Amino acid sequence: MRLTLFSSLLFAGTALSALPAHAAGELNLICAADVVICEQMTADFQKSHDIKVNMVRMSSGEAYAKIRAEARNPKTDVWWAGTGDPHLQAASENLTAEYKSPMLNELQDWAKKQAESAGYKTVGVYAGALGWGYNTDIFKSKGFKEPKCWADLLAPELKGEIQIANPNSSGTAYTALASLVQIMGEEKAFDYLKKLNANVSQYTKSGSAPVKAAARGETALGIVFMHDAVAQAAEGFPVKSVAPCEGTGYEIGSMSIVKGAQNMENAKIWYDWALTAPVQSRMKDAKSFQLPSNKSAEIPKEAPKFEDIKLIDYDFKTYGEPAKRKALLERWDKEIGAVAN
Ligand code: G6P
Repeated sequence: MRLTLFSSLLFAGTALSALPAHAAGELNLICAADVVICEQMTADFQKSHDIKVNMVRMSSGEAYAKIRAEARNPKTDVWWAGTGDPHLQAASENLTAEYKSPMLNELQDWAKKQAESAGYKTVGVYAGALGWGYNTDIFKSKGFKEPKCWADLLAPELKGEIQIANPNSSGTAYTALASLVQIMGEEKAFDYLKKLNANVSQYTKSGSAPVKAAARGETALGIVFMHDAVAQAAEGFPVKSVAPCEGTGYEIGSMSIVKGAQNMENAKIWYDWALTAPVQSRMKDAKSFQLPSNKSAEIPKEAPKFEDIKLIDYDFKTYGEPAKRKALLERWDKEIGAVAN
């Protein structure tokens, strides 16, 4: 009897450990957007699937660094959202898996192009234009001029009044860096950033933190994606969003499956699900006002209109290349980060 119990326990143990990882019904997810949408997506997915999602929220650059550090023994299955450049970098370093989702044909051309250019190792999930949000009460009470252009952000009166994230951790701030380089050329862009540094009180870790601080009156202006500024206005804060007059860059928020993912089948289930119209139409309920990549998804009425914004032809391929991203970040560290207040 004791022997039978022992051997059946032994058998149970062997059988459990022999099961493929996905049968345990888990998915390890890095979510690189705002925490509210990360939690909403996780909860919605768990309601409709028998899969437990272990979600961690990170900024885009941090997510990339984690995927890279785990390359030999991946702990993450899917990396959802965050700006496209680090996803493209991960794709070109072979850290992410090729997957041609049956949903691809439902997507906007810009989202499909993102997938094609990376050998289907990533895909576009949303788009958003870069700009800033400023606190209208602070601007009024301090008598500051309305900041319409990148050049206006250098006004001496704005000393200590601006926040932007650090481009090493934040995809938003990397998009700003790469956009300014494309608008002005690299030398002039770094001159501009050095001058801007005089007005920056803090380089935050997360991309949207600066406009949250502006909303609460902790700073006058935050350089962020315009939809993040709109989200603060929708919360009732005195925040106005601006599309810079000289032109601006934009993100293709992306999604990738990690190469060698332990829960590969579940990763694909999430991937296909996250590209559907109903899921993307729900993003606005978390005040995530990006442009969705599914052609049939509802465009939130609050979403900044791309046709009203002077967009540059952002070169995702070049600025998502490992060597380019590394070189720009190293130069930023040396010339801006090292001398930051
Ligand atoms: C916010 C925006 C997203 C963007 C993300 C990047 O969540 O709403 O559209 O992709 O920031 O975050 P990061 O912290 O990397 O700048």
